[in-house]
Amino acid sequence: MSEVKRVAKLEIDGKTYELPMHSPTAGPDVIDIRKLYADAGVFTYDPGYTSTASCDSTITFIDGDKGELLHRGYPIDQLAEKSHYLEVCYLLLYGELPSPAQLEDFESRVTNHTMIHEQMHFLFRGFRRDAHPMAIMVGVVGALSAFYHDSTDIADPWQREVASIRLIAKMPTIAAMAFKYTIGQPFEYPRNDLDYASNFLRMCFAVPAENYVVNPILSRAMDRIFTLHADHEQNASTSTVRLASSSGANPFACVAAGIACLWGPAHGGANQACLEMLQEIGTPDRIPEYIARAKDKDDPFRLMGFGHRVYKNFDPRAKVMKQSADEVLELLGVENNPTLQVAKELERQALADPYFAEKKLFPNVDFYSGIILEAMGFPTSMFTPIFAVSRTIGWISQWKEMIADPQLKIGRPRQLYKGATLRDYVDIEKR
Ligand code: SDX
Repeated sequence: MSEVKRVAKLEIDGKTYELPMHSPTAGPDVIDIRKLYADAGVFTYDPGYTSTASCDSTITFIDGDKGELLHRGYPIDQLAEKSHYLEVCYLLLYGELPSPAQLEDFESRVTNHTMIHEQMHFLFRGFRRDAHPMAIMVGVVGALSAFYHDSTDIADPWQREVASIRLIAKMPTIAAMAFKYTIGQPFEYPRNDLDYASNFLRMCFAVPAENYVVNPILSRAMDRIFTLHADHEQNASTSTVRLASSSGANPFACVAAGIACLWGPAHGGANQACLEMLQEIGTPDRIPEYIARAKDKDDPFRLMGFGHRVYKNFDPRAKVMKQSADEVLELLGVENNPTLQVAKELERQALADPYFAEKKLFPNVDFYSGIILEAMGFPTSMFTPIFAVSRTIGWISQWKEMIADPQLKIGRPRQLYKGATLRDYVDIEKR
C-alpha cells in the first residue's frame, strides 16, 4: 500500500474522524475506511460498488473517461495489434512481457496440458443435448476439483502455478467439448502442433470424416478476440472469483463461480444478447423503434452491447473489434453482412441521440464481437463460453495476486438492515 499522504475528514454528530487517503499510480485517490466502523460505529453504503475499491491491484487499469485499457501498463490496441493471446496471458500472470525463451517455455507448458482426464468425458453425458454450453462449462470446470487434487492446495505456490496452467490450457478444450456435445458431434482432441486459437477452432469445427485445415484469417481473428477479453479490472465475474477465493476455496471451484457470473446478460452474456437483438431488429428501418424502447423508462429493454459501468467514452476493445469485424467479414467475402450493417447504423443513430450522449453510453466490447463470431461459424450460444475461455487468464491472474497478498482477508460485506427488529415467537394458535 502507498504511503499515506493526505487525510479525509468526516464529521458525524459534531465529531471529526480522520481517514487516511492513498494515491494510486493511475486513477483516483482512495479513502481508506478500514477502521471507520471501529472508530465511528458506522458503515459506508455502496450497492453495486460504484465508488468502492475492493482491493489494490497491479494488473489492469481502465481510464473510463479516456477510453483507455492498460494491461500491466501496455495499451490494449497495441497488444491486439502486436502481441498474441498466450503472450498476453504471460504478461497478465507474471507482470512483464516474456523473453523468447520464457514465452517458448510458457507456451509449451500450456500446450502440454490441454487434454482433460479421460474420465471427465463421461460428465458431459449427464447433460441434455440442448443444455446451454455455459451450463456445461460451470459444471465441468467445477468438477476439475475432483480430478486434479494435486493442484488444489492454494497455500502451495507450486500448486497455484500448476492450477493456473491447467485452467488456461483446459478451458478451450472444455468449451469445445461443450459445443460438440450440444450439436451431437464427437469430441475432437487437442493437437500439440497447433497454436492456442487454431487448436480451439479445430476442436470446435473438425469432424472425423474429413481433414480440417485452420483458416489463418479465422485463427488470427480468434486470437484477437481472446486477447481483447482477457482481463478488465474488478468486473463482476472477477470480483466473484476473488470473493470465492477469499474463503480459501480451490481455484477450479472459484473459476466455475466466475463462469456462472459471466453468463448474465448484463455481463458476459451481452454478446449473445446483442447479436440476438441485432437479428431481431433485422433491418435499419426498424432501428428508431428500438432506440425509442431503450430510452423509455417504462420499458426494461436496453441496447445490448451499449453502456458500461466504467467506460464513459468508447470501449477501446470495441474500436479494435469493429475494425476486426470489417477485416474478417471482407476476407470471408461477407462484407455485406446485414447484421453488421444494422450494427453500424444502430451505432450511428444511438451516438447521434442526446439520450446516449448525455448518459455517456457507447458501444462496449460485446457490440461487435458477436458479428465476428457468427461469421466464423459459431452459434450465439457459444459466444459467452468463448468470453469465459479468454477471461480465465484474468480471473487466474487476479486470484494469484489476491492469494499472495499478505493483507488477504475473507470478503465479508456488511449491510444497511431494514428488516424487523427484535420480536418474540408467536405460537400458531395465537396467529
Ligand atoms: C461487460 O465491468 C466490466 O468491466 C464488464 C466487461 C468486462 O470486460 O468484464 O466490460 C464486460 O459486461 C460489458 C457490458 C455488457 N453489458 C451490456 O452490454 C448490457 C447492456 N448494458 C447495460 O445493462 C449497462 O450499461 C451496464 C450493465 C453495462 C452498466 O450498467 P450500470 O453501470 O449499472 O449503469 P446503469 O444501469 O446505472 O445505467 C446508467 C443509466 C441508466 O439510466 P438512468 O437510470 O440514469 O435514467 O444509463 C442507462 C440506464 O437506464 N443505460 C442504458 C443502457 N445502459 C445504461 N439505457 C439503454 N441501453 C443501455 N444499454
